[in-house]
Amino acid sequence: MRSFTGRDILSLKDFERNEFFRVFDVADRLKHFAEDRKNTDLLAEKTLVTAFYQPSTRTRLAHEAAMHRLGGHVTGFADAKMTRAGDFYQETIKDTVKMLEFYGDVIVMRHFQQGVPHEAAKWASVPIINGGDGWGEHPTQILTDLYTVYREKGRLDGLKWLAVGDMRMRTMHSLAHGLTQFDCPITFVSPPDMRLTNDFKKEIKKYNLNYKEAEHVEEAIGDADVILVEPVIQPDYTKSRDERDGDVDLTPANYKITRELLSKKAKSDAILLHSLPRMDEIPADVDITRWSRYWQEAFNGVVMRMALLALVLGTQE
Ligand code: CP
Repeated sequence: MRSFTGRDILSLKDFERNEFFRVFDVADRLKHFAEDRKNTDLLAEKTLVTAFYQPSTRTRLAHEAAMHRLGGHVTGFADAKMTRAGDFYQETIKDTVKMLEFYGDVIVMRHFQQGVPHEAAKWASVPIINGGDGWGEHPTQILTDLYTVYREKGRLDGLKWLAVGDMRMRTMHSLAHGLTQFDCPITFVSPPDMRLTNDFKKEIKKYNLNYKEAEHVEEAIGDADVILVEPVIQPDYTKSRDERDGDVDLTPANYKITRELLSKKAKSDAILLHSLPRMDEIPADVDITRWSRYWQEAFNGVVMRMALLALVLGTQE
């Protein structure tokens, strides 16, 4: 297995099957600190730099919380407009990263342009973790989701997945790449203008992902062991900031998971994931059903980032 020390986490396309299990093992080992709400000193000599060029609640703060749990330090920015990258200078990624690498030992970056964390990784002497790049990928989120399923169901192979939402989303790309390493057939349900692109389909076919597409969640929910939902009413992820302008549409029934639908059609032991934020695609009354696991997913978001930080910083070889 390749070493994780010093490694960039840019894409799940890079991940081998045994590497997923390695990350899950480390997450299992570190989880008790988060469960007990205790901090340790594993990364006491290390600093995380957060470079967020697009809004985030979970990804930035889960990385920061993970670093605090492991006794490390955190610095960075959550609003690129307050840096020289966002003012008159429009400072390049190269120039910015050639500074940031001296401010810490690992950088987590979110950017509205696909591929920018990869560009940063070309110049940085410290590991870059992709916290979401445009429509590109969101590897740490899907590692969190796979870990959640692994812990909740005790396995990944043999589980059937249903993914609902905008298939242009970075999470969906990382999910498709990740599932190529497991025996996990998946059905994608999305509006016609939000389907997986032909280029992306060609790519995942090369890796033998067993997938199909459907028009309505009702067609596929009955077979699913794991239901992963993302919004179809959402901002433009290629903008640094996309404010809501007046009222927005409601989610059509085809892409909505209601309590009634779960009761009537879902497997009794299926689990429902949503990385959040949500619109109305999962109404709040689903939260206290036996299917929902998104709060567990949120907790695991911290645990997974603890594992990744510990691995890339070389304390868990
Ligand atoms: N799920 C997720 O990436 O959330 P944030 O945009 O709040 O980081």
